[in-house]
Amino acid sequence: MEHIAVIGAGNIGEALIAGLVESGVEPRRITATNRSQERSAYLAGTYGVAVEQDNRAAVGDAAFVFLCVKPGQIAPVLEEIGDELDAGDGNAVVISMAAGVSLASMEEALPSAGMPVVRVMPNTPMLVGKGVLAVSFGRFVDEEQRGQIRELLAAAGRVVEVEEQKMDAVTALSGSGPAYYFLLTEALIDAGVALGLPRDLAQTLAGATAAGAGAMLDGDADPAQLRAAVSSPAGTTVAALREFEESGLRGAVFRATDACAKRSAELG
Ligand SMILES: NC(=O)c1ccc[n+]([C@@H]2O[C@H](COP(=O)([O-])OP(=O)(O)OC[C@H]3O[C@@H](n4cnc5c(N)ncnc54)[C@H](OP(=O)(O)O)[C@@H]3O)[C@@H](O)[C@H]2O)c1
Repeated sequence: MEHIAVIGAGNIGEALIAGLVESGVEPRRITATNRSQERSAYLAGTYGVAVEQDNRAAVGDAAFVFLCVKPGQIAPVLEEIGDELDAGDGNAVVISMAAGVSLASMEEALPSAGMPVVRVMPNTPMLVGKGVLAVSFGRFVDEEQRGQIRELLAAAGRVVEVEEQKMDAVTALSGSGPAYYFLLTEALIDAGVALGLPRDLAQTLAGATAAGAGAMLDGDADPAQLRAAVSSPAGTTVAALREFEESGLRGAVFRATDACAKRSAELG
């Protein structure tokens, strides 16, 4: 059975591990690395995976090496593990979850030409099995590996394949997107308090509404149709929607996503 290494099992790495184990991957197939002993003990205790402090030891017999460290750590980690990957059977695929780091820069950081690399832009709803994982395959990843990787990633949410040049825009939508909905929910809670609701009640109402609206959108429903369906003529909802439009909500979304995509390009 092919081994899986998860290098840097923080938020995203843990979400991946949780999804894989939940979907039936044998925990012993997974080795997670971390810098802190405490976190390693937590991962071993919670998911039953093997843990390692040494990245090189973790990738030794792995067929799939997920890099879940921060973008600035990708090159140093590749430098650290590169010859270990090269010394294997030559088939290990490196799959980076980092924002902004290009396939070309990963190929370059590896010791030999032709090593297969993949770039994924995940998001944090992976933690509850509801992530979106946008994937771009490098030119040296073969068809069988592509299928296996799609299958592994599907454990954490929906998998969509995109051209690498679209990754900055993808980051601005799905990668950073959960935070936009959290911000809106937070603002709604404050607004509820301003209208006289107790904060805990406002939080329940706003959070449950976000979850319910999210569930209605699941499966590619058209948001414009859903919104029209709850907007009675001259009713309460359109009164609120008109204020959002006059306050420039759409313009703010265009500017915010533009800033996010630019930042993603800078990180690269
Ligand atoms: N969080 C998001 O919403 C999100 C969305 C899309 C993409 N991403 C991408 O996902 C990646 C991880 O983000 P995250 O939020 O999961 O970060 P995180 O929680 O900080 O996780 C990174 C983990 O890597 C460990 N680490 C750092 N250097 C290491 C090394 N040399 N060897 C082994 N482990 C090492 C860290 O351990 P220590 O804490 O001990 O240093 C930490 O546990 C980033 O590249 C980010 O761009 C994140």
